[in-house]
Amino acid sequence: MQIIVVKDKVAGGKAALKVFAAAKARGVKVFGLATGGTPETTYAELVASDLDFTDSISINLDEYVGLAANHPQSYAYYMHHHLFFAKPFAASYLPNGLATDPAAECARYDQILADHHVGLQLLGIGRNGHIGFNEPGSPFDGTTHEVALTPSTIAANARFFDRPADVPKRALSMGIGAIMQADQILLEAYGSDKAAAIQAMIEGPVTTAVPASVLQQHPNVIVILDQAAAAKL
Ligand code: GLP
Repeated sequence: MQIIVVKDKVAGGKAALKVFAAAKARGVKVFGLATGGTPETTYAELVASDLDFTDSISINLDEYVGLAANHPQSYAYYMHHHLFFAKPFAASYLPNGLATDPAAECARYDQILADHHVGLQLLGIGRNGHIGFNEPGSPFDGTTHEVALTPSTIAANARFFDRPADVPKRALSMGIGAIMQADQILLEAYGSDKAAAIQAMIEGPVTTAVPASVLQQHPNVIVILDQAAAAKL
């Protein structure tokens, strides 16, 4: 694991841009993308850059169940708002949160992943060490699945919604097995509330209790942290 500690998330976005540019330069055409507050500066840097993704494919980690793509808190909306409006891809995939048959939707997504090998996977991390929406206890060989979000994840996401009752309780998420298939993984974390999860991910045992700890077993991981997130290392 290569660990880069920067001053703040703005500097982190600039460091992440270099990772994306290097991936483009070596011919990566499939990018695994993430949502949340963490990658916002990375997307801002990509938008301001001269990188072109019109020959590339994007595959997002996850989507809330029950939110349409045009709902302002859906991850589809987030991706359009932060990246795709300025940097269109040849094709962009997200799970369909309104799928009437979630099992069929998960199978469709696994087929998309089988058809497009991810060259660079961007990740954030949940306060409990989750990646994508793979909550503690998720199997390391997991495929795309429907998830019941934990109370801590629902509470963390509540800041994006007007009323607590509006916060989705379920999501569709790529599995850890697919995340680990990526040639390279870039995980970013900023702020003191990520410090314990980062310490457990990097220094703790590899355990499904801390989903991100599986990254210790991946041969090509870059971690970008601000000083607050790195404070317990
Ligand atoms: C959600 C997303 C994750 C993200 C996490 C942390 O759970 N599904 O992909 O890493 O939130 O979000 P934030 O970056 O806002 O702290």
